[in-house]
Amino acid sequence: MVQKVRCCIVGMGIGRPNGRALSRNPRGEVTALCDLDSDRMEAFAQELPNDPKTYTDYKKMCKDPDIDAVFVGTPNQWHVPVALEAVKNDKHVMVTKPLADSERAAKKLVEAAHSAGVVNMMSLSTRFSDPCQYLGKLAREGYFGDLYYARARSIRRSGIPAWNMGFIQKGGGAFRDMGVHVLDAVWWILGRPKPVSVSGVAGAKFGPKGKGYWRYNQVSRKISSQYAADDYAGGMIRFENGTGLQVESFWASHQPEEFQIEIFGDEAGAQLRPLTLYRTENNAPQNIEVKIPHPAEAWDNIAAHFIECILDGKPCDAPLQNGYQVQQMMEGLLKSAETGKEVRIR
Ligand SMILES: NC(=O)c1ccc[n+]([C@@H]2O[C@H](COP(=O)([O-])OP(=O)(O)OC[C@H]3O[C@@H](n4cnc5c(N)ncnc54)[C@H](O)[C@@H]3O)[C@@H](O)[C@H]2O)c1
Repeated sequence: MVQKVRCCIVGMGIGRPNGRALSRNPRGEVTALCDLDSDRMEAFAQELPNDPKTYTDYKKMCKDPDIDAVFVGTPNQWHVPVALEAVKNDKHVMVTKPLADSERAAKKLVEAAHSAGVVNMMSLSTRFSDPCQYLGKLAREGYFGDLYYARARSIRRSGIPAWNMGFIQKGGGAFRDMGVHVLDAVWWILGRPKPVSVSGVAGAKFGPKGKGYWRYNQVSRKISSQYAADDYAGGMIRFENGTGLQVESFWASHQPEEFQIEIFGDEAGAQLRPLTLYRTENNAPQNIEVKIPHPAEAWDNIAAHFIECILDGKPCDAPLQNGYQVQQMMEGLLKSAETGKEVRIR
């Protein structure tokens, strides 16, 4: 009989695409759901092939001996409490981005996961997308030569998410919500160099004024008055090997929508969208647009890797430690914006 990883999905928002992928993997199954909202759980349970147990209390769920692994897809401020409870109960754990709402919380979880010895992984839909994986593979093979600079940006015109107040309050913000995707993915493509310093600006130009919300939705004063996060952030990260990274994230702006990564190597460069390689051949520029024939869903790549780490002992390519380092860069940039000074990263 095929051995299967029995998973519990916590959080019925981003938990659903992650849960569907774990469930359609031949070696995964979703045997439990956990959310404060029973209706959302019931609706998702209907989609699944077997009848999952449902929990509204994550602490109780973590004691269930019939669960091997927990996916955490709650709002940011609940990632660490839920994941800590899971690892304390010897469950393998996968956490959506960002790892936490602060650097200190992220560190505590990474240490606990290491001492528990469980598989611990970030669910990163940009890093695990086929185009990013393709660029990462070329980078490891030396195609770009020395990667010395990169740019990454995630820009919306009107995209402040207010359906869950956690996003717009302290601990949320555009950089932790969206900037994190391009930051993590480009850092991974660059070979995860050690960050040493960051300098940036950030603020809120739309949210507190009731503007810039998701798809131009009007929000009440009751919502906009609680706005306490960044709706834009931009800055420069310097790595130990001398590489520089310019990163930008805007929930709202008067600029075209964009989600882009650009890498500069001394042999070749690339951009993510559309996936293009840039090089010089016989003293002439060459632009190669790459089409990936049958791209997989990032969620399937994530689920497959998590299951391989658990069942086959494969080394994890996206451990929570990666989430911690990305958190260090994000929190450093936000701190730099607050203090007006460059922040050193240890
Ligand atoms: N591409 C991606 O990887 C991606 C995309 C969107 C959101 N996210 C992340 O997913 C997380 C949730 O965002 P969302 O858009 O799914 O939000 P959401 O509000 O749609 O869903 C969150 C769910 O968590 C539940 N919840 C809240 N506190 C809980 C608790 N203590 N115990 C159990 N359930 C709890 C809520 O009832 C809700 O159903 C955020 O951290 C966000 O950054 C990741």
